[in-house]
Amino acid sequence: MFNSQRHEEILKILAEKRSITVEELSRSLKVSSSTIRRDLEEMEGKGLLRRTHGGAIRERKERARGMKIFLDTASIEEIKKATDWGLIDGVTTNPSSIAKEGKDLEALIKEIATIMDGPICVEPVATEAGKIISEAEELAKLYKNIIVKIPITLEGLKAVKILSKGGIKTGVTLIFSSSQALLAAKAGATYCFPFAGRLDDIGQEGMDMVKDIVQVYKNYGFGTEVIVASIRSPLQVQKAALSGVGGVTIPFDVFERLIKHPLTDEGMEKFLSDWKKIPK
Ligand code: E4P
Repeated sequence: MFNSQRHEEILKILAEKRSITVEELSRSLKVSSSTIRRDLEEMEGKGLLRRTHGGAIRERKERARGMKIFLDTASIEEIKKATDWGLIDGVTTNPSSIAKEGKDLEALIKEIATIMDGPICVEPVATEAGKIISEAEELAKLYKNIIVKIPITLEGLKAVKILSKGGIKTGVTLIFSSSQALLAAKAGATYCFPFAGRLDDIGQEGMDMVKDIVQVYKNYGFGTEVIVASIRSPLQVQKAALSGVGGVTIPFDVFERLIKHPLTDEGMEKFLSDWKKIPK
């Protein structure tokens, strides 16, 4: 397990237990006490926890990690443009977006990995736990920061639990209720992807579900991060940010529209034309 994976695990344990000893961590993560002590020192330096005599406790400031913005696409062209703007933290794909590109999955993921170094979320297509796990392990070999995105089914959750324990980062996808999100967190998922837009499409308020999930996770200190998916508009991004989620995954066109405001354009035009009036 890499250092960063161990740190994620330690944060997850602390989210559930609030405090932990070096011995307990060393047993559950199967590394020496001195490795754990080094981890805790490093994590304390980043403000992620506070060391105590013989262990660590959760640091209240741990939420100051910022809101993640993933780009929801498998298009190389879009990923290149957005990466160039320097504002995206990672990429989410799904079988539909991969199919749209008409390229081999492995080659596509490797190409994305040459453009940006954040997490790349990819979905296995197997539906039985054992097969999901084998597919996930193969996907995880493609790039150092793969998030295996698994649809919420009982088999999927079994796989999430085993993969998370083995140090492979997971996201539970196709979430449409806070009870599903609760199970994803119990299984140890790194991320939970509630589909806000698809609920809006059928006349339900997607952001209500998102707010409920945020509250449930807060009530019990779950370490799973909520990344709002199926986003259709900048307004949904604003609402997601207000609800305190860990992040959003947005299509390229919404990303472009996030920066736009007619009053900004009007203001810019006026500044520039006034500037031209100054005698040179
Ligand atoms: C992201 O992880 C999902 O695959 C995606 O947001 C689904 O969005 P859609 O409802 O627009 O297809």
